[in-house]
Amino acid sequence: MLNLSKIRQQFPALKETDAQGQPYAFFDGPGGTQVPHQVITAMNRYLTEANANHGGHFITSQRNDQLIETTRQAMADFLNASAAKEIVFGQNMTSLTFNLSRAMSRLFQPGDEIIVTNLDHDANISPWLALEEQGIIIKWVDFDVTDCRLDLTQLTDSLSEKTKLVAVGYASNAVGTINPIAKIVELVRQKSSAWVWVDAVHYAPHGPIDVQALGCDFLVCSAYKFFGPHIGVLWGRYDLLEQIPAYKVRPADDNPPGKFETGTQNHEGIAGTNATIAYLAELGRTYGQSFAPDPTCYPARRGELKQAMQTIMHHERELFTTLLNGLQTIPEVTIYGLTNSAEFAERCPTLAFTHAKFSPTEIAAYLGERGIFVWNGHYYAITVINRLGLAESGGAVRVGLAHYNTPDEIERLILAVREMAERGS
Ligand SMILES: Cc1ncc(COP(=O)(O)O)c(C=O)c1O
Repeated sequence: MLNLSKIRQQFPALKETDAQGQPYAFFDGPGGTQVPHQVITAMNRYLTEANANHGGHFITSQRNDQLIETTRQAMADFLNASAAKEIVFGQNMTSLTFNLSRAMSRLFQPGDEIIVTNLDHDANISPWLALEEQGIIIKWVDFDVTDCRLDLTQLTDSLSEKTKLVAVGYASNAVGTINPIAKIVELVRQKSSAWVWVDAVHYAPHGPIDVQALGCDFLVCSAYKFFGPHIGVLWGRYDLLEQIPAYKVRPADDNPPGKFETGTQNHEGIAGTNATIAYLAELGRTYGQSFAPDPTCYPARRGELKQAMQTIMHHERELFTTLLNGLQTIPEVTIYGLTNSAEFAERCPTLAFTHAKFSPTEIAAYLGERGIFVWNGHYYAITVINRLGLAESGGAVRVGLAHYNTPDEIERLILAVREMAERGS
């Protein structure tokens, strides 16, 4: 069980209030989560004590380089990568995906195929679509609009020896569906030698990631979605990273990860990411005992991170049940995605809904005026919103839960939506 008041004390933003002293309720996590004070301190310290470029023979540069390598190992532990050198830092997930897709395409031939899905954020679609100009053929996999699950039969039918890459999301940032990545990898391996590129941006704050158990080839995430600063992180199998000819300046490192880290990195962001991982590991040590330690996890921090994310998942599932049950009692509300509690292992606590009388913009603005922060629109998941038939009506309202949210905040949100609905009718 998480001690929510102790957890929340660590997040300065959660103490912010409106002019009447009412605290804000942050349900905007899928667009970016709040950060604990340890992250803010680490970034501050970096800029005070280690603010230098890489590779110098003086103390601030040496501290900088040490911190980058420490954070690489921290991210390797977070993702259960086999080596720190498989971790590449970048501006954000979108830029890393454009960077790597373009570099990979130097190995592809016209007529080669890439599979993308309608359930993905556009950052895992457009970088692959851009390769059409080089003669690459894009194939689409759809999802079932009634429950928002991917069509794995269509995926299987789309695979062939021509498939070079399958780009798939770990979880949908619009409707919350968690895709069965290990199973998808198995299907891909049965019919092709394609690489599997996983967008874990939405999933990362909600559950443990183990790239070795998933069996995928690349996985990307963004620290700002899991309580860290604005940087992107890529994990790739080292032999594949070695093979891919990077677009780089001549003096830069010829080997991964350096060859993909174009230009000077966001060093203070990297320092903050190290502190984010330390925050999560501490959460695992403090609250994770109800989940058995995994004896295969080495170093110990990997086990702590796994326990942290299992604890977060458990806590969020309870919160999500409260949210779903409450919204379902409001007339004329439609909820998208999986709503059967027996299937909650297949979804993140991210809920998209619409109301028959109010547009998503009106609802988000009404809530925003009351200090309740939610997103509305398509959140760049344009194919999801199109397929759900919501593109013309302004998309949906998205309520994203994070582990720092409380049942009281959820009650506040439900009351406000109910109040709006009753006023309107
Ligand atoms: C599922 C998903 N993928 C990719 C992205 C893009 O991430 P970034 O902002 O790091 O480029 C987002 C951002 O909202 C997302 O939710």
